[in-house]
Amino acid sequence: MPKSNDWTIIKILAWTESYFKDHSIDSSRLTAEMLLAYCLGIKRLDLYLQHDRPLQKNELSNLKALIKRRIQNEPTAYIIGEKGFFDSDFKVASGVLIPRPDTETIVEEALKVLGACKENVKPKTIFELGTGSGAIIISLAKVAPDHLYFASDVSVTSLAIAKKNAEIILSKTMKDKIVFFAGDWFSSLKKSPEFDPIFDQKFDLIISNPPYIPSKDIQTLQSEIRLFEPLLALDGGRDGLDSFRFILDDAHHYLVPGGTILLEMGFDQKEGIQNISKQYPEYQFIEFIKDLAEHNRVALIKKSID
Ligand SMILES: C[S@@+](CC[C@H](N)C(=O)[O-])C[C@H]1O[C@@H](n2cnc3c(N)ncnc32)[C@H](O)[C@@H]1O
Repeated sequence: MPKSNDWTIIKILAWTESYFKDHSIDSSRLTAEMLLAYCLGIKRLDLYLQHDRPLQKNELSNLKALIKRRIQNEPTAYIIGEKGFFDSDFKVASGVLIPRPDTETIVEEALKVLGACKENVKPKTIFELGTGSGAIIISLAKVAPDHLYFASDVSVTSLAIAKKNAEIILSKTMKDKIVFFAGDWFSSLKKSPEFDPIFDQKFDLIISNPPYIPSKDIQTLQSEIRLFEPLLALDGGRDGLDSFRFILDDAHHYLVPGGTILLEMGFDQKEGIQNISKQYPEYQFIEFIKDLAEHNRVALIKKSID
């Protein structure tokens, strides 16, 4: 790491990129830009507009600390406290899953279910289970603000971050806030003091990206996931299907007739989810939606009309 303060932004970017390459860090240039922009409190584009600005001694030592964290495999999103997802920047923190690009598939599918691009659509009620940073529900509410949105998580750390993200991202687009509940899957509705039982809420759409990695596979994950991301958000039990069992066992009680469930899933879980859903006569229809890599990524299950 250079010591003198005659290092300009452009020189330190090149140095950091090459250092990350030597340490096999993915997207070395982008990572260098993100950490330097964060360290200097400017946008990535400004790095190039101010390319010949020399760094102060304290800026260099702050950058050095961030670089050290990254080569110890801490994800960039945790270091800078933010991750871009579906057109917004979401705050993240240790204990909260970093939203993945793969999860944009379920958001796009939900927007189709909500008829987001059609005119005069009747307001619908949507409930997200396991909201994490709020990436899914907030992205939906931003594009389609006229519906009623509810979301829950068993992790209070995640809920606090999701509420903060909703305040920041939706302040201009939404009058009524998303209602957040804490608790284990559907029990969050039963126990929450904010939930109004007189309302007797049934949902048009229940959506979730639950933990779905088989417990035995957790040890094989990249160290930046395994060592830094919350196990609670990843571990789906022995065969990875436990969350689907819990959710499908209860969801039909909370859906309107003809209502829809959307579940993000692992690419090889089609048969397992089909078998669980077949145990309930309430579920009439099941379809699997592929992501851009042509992997099954989302299960769409419909409750029967009667
Ligand atoms: C795969 S993460 C998804 C987070 C976020 N929805 C996203 O897509 O980025 C799964 C989430 O489910 C939550 N979760 C795990 N077990 C739960 C449970 N029993 N009840 C409610 N939420 C749970 C975790 O805390 C985590 O936030």
